[in-house]
Amino acid sequence: MRLRRNPQAIELLTTHPLSVTNYEEQKGSWKKLFDNSHPLYVELGTGKGQFLAKASTTYPNINWIGVEKIQEPLLLATRKGEETENTNVRYLWLDIVKLQEAFAPGEVDRFYLHFSDPWPKARHFKRRLTYRGFLKAYENLLSPTGDLILKTDSESLYQFSVEEIQESGWEIIEQSNDLHHSQWAETNITTEYEEKFAGLGMPIFYLKSVPKHMDCKNK
Ligand SMILES: C[S@@+](CC[C@H](N)C(=O)[O-])C[C@H]1O[C@@H](n2cnc3c(N)ncnc32)[C@H](O)[C@@H]1O
Repeated sequence: MRLRRNPQAIELLTTHPLSVTNYEEQKGSWKKLFDNSHPLYVELGTGKGQFLAKASTTYPNINWIGVEKIQEPLLLATRKGEETENTNVRYLWLDIVKLQEAFAPGEVDRFYLHFSDPWPKARHFKRRLTYRGFLKAYENLLSPTGDLILKTDSESLYQFSVEEIQESGWEIIEQSNDLHHSQWAETNITTEYEEKFAGLGMPIFYLKSVPKHMDCKNK
């Protein structure tokens, strides 16, 4: 994933039509920006944006947002999004720790965590994006029928995530230790990292989870 530094990346991002720099002003009114009342799905740590380009094409009646803290991959993601000519996708240069600056409580219908950094050292466990502090923030921003989808190649991050999810009072409603050979394989949309790991013959761990108080009748 390491990309060469692009000194112009910040300027290019701030002027790109799909990159939203005034995200604080959109907080609570993303529907207005997209000019519809479609559900809002947010991918956390978008990287180079393959998933979002494909997902926004496959599901035009969803509003898609990619959040990424590093400018260079995000710039590539915005360009990939632009190539699709889809109007239902936007990109935020934003650290996930500041999510609440961009989204109002209850505004997000789904979060995706795709191949998040596993932070394998024990002392770094609070940096893992499924640490209970992060789950609390996601829960606050999710709508009453909202959910979280996680995919990873890392068995240790997966196990940690399952424990944190359960400890946080969430419910796991779908789960596979080998997504590509599961009942969800057919509708799965792959990410860049996913293709890399699956290409090496590695299984992809998958789960979908909802905060327990939420109504999951339609999931
Ligand atoms: C391993 S890559 C996966 C990229 C993509 N989701 C995929 O599956 O191909 C993880 C991405 O998450 C981003 N990321 C990690 N921590 C983040 C944070 N706190 N805020 C925003 N992005 C973050 C990294 O910069 C990187 O682009």
